[in-house]
Amino acid sequence: MFEVKGKRVLITGGASGIGLALVKHFLAEGACVIAVDLHGSDALTETDAELFTADVSDETELSVALERAAESGGKLDVVINNAGIALPEGRFEDADLSILEKVFNVNVKGVYLGLKYAPRYMNDGGSIINTGSAAAHITMPEYTSYSVSKSGVLAMTRTASLQLGSRGIRVNAVSPGTVLTPMESVDGPEARISVQATALERPANTDDIVGVYHFLAADESRYITGSEIRVDGGWVAGMTYKTMDKVLS
Ligand SMILES: NC(=O)c1ccc[n+]([C@@H]2O[C@H](COP(=O)([O-])OP(=O)(O)OC[C@H]3O[C@@H](n4cnc5c(N)ncnc54)[C@H](O)[C@@H]3O)[C@@H](O)[C@H]2O)c1
Repeated sequence: MFEVKGKRVLITGGASGIGLALVKHFLAEGACVIAVDLHGSDALTETDAELFTADVSDETELSVALERAAESGGKLDVVINNAGIALPEGRFEDADLSILEKVFNVNVKGVYLGLKYAPRYMNDGGSIINTGSAAAHITMPEYTSYSVSKSGVLAMTRTASLQLGSRGIRVNAVSPGTVLTPMESVDGPEARISVQATALERPANTDDIVGVYHFLAADESRYITGSEIRVDGGWVAGMTYKTMDKVLS
């Protein structure tokens, strides 16, 4: 059950954090892995993954990377649109709109372009997995563009699933809460808030979430499409005892 051995898996943002953990996981499971990122990393170089450098928000760069990935070893079975950035743009009244543009460019346009170009280089019956975020549901006050961008990822996941269903290509999203990566350090505010605000009373490690991507990549999840799986330790589920105790004591 849940074999991914032999599948060709392409992961954007594969040089760091969640993407790098996915690269290592799928290689360990016998998949053939291609990473797409702005640049490589020492940790990625140590793996057997093939790297294509590309900016996911650049139509030409991403489409060429996907084309070359398919040419180099055959069509893709799994594409994980994972590259993303998180930046606060401040309050609405004094927001820095250049940040909003940067975040939308990578998180929305980057995933949009992945959905535009990846299917032509994929086998029928394949799986596309977009990295969303619990921030689409629950957010911090000055991360509007990030939250909106991840809500957009969930909307694109649904529309793409409707378009690609006739080819048997499934499109789903994994929405992490706080995961300890270079984006979220262990002593950063989100990790500290996670201890208080999640049912499981801790942030995630990348090991806590790769299995969900594996499940969606495997053929056994063949009837799941247009869905989101939250992997947020129960953050979105509601108010924790810890928070209630703190407020009410
Ligand atoms: N870490 C978290 O707590 C968390 C929570 C929810 C969602 N996410 C999402 O998970 C994904 C991965 O985040 P992470 O924590 O691993 O971050 P990270 O910063 O460790 O890794 C992101 C990777 O994406 C690459 N990247 C950024 N912009 C790119 C671009 N334009 N083109 C190509 N590659 C680009 C970076 O070079 C980097 O290797 C993102 O979409 C992020 O929004 C992260």
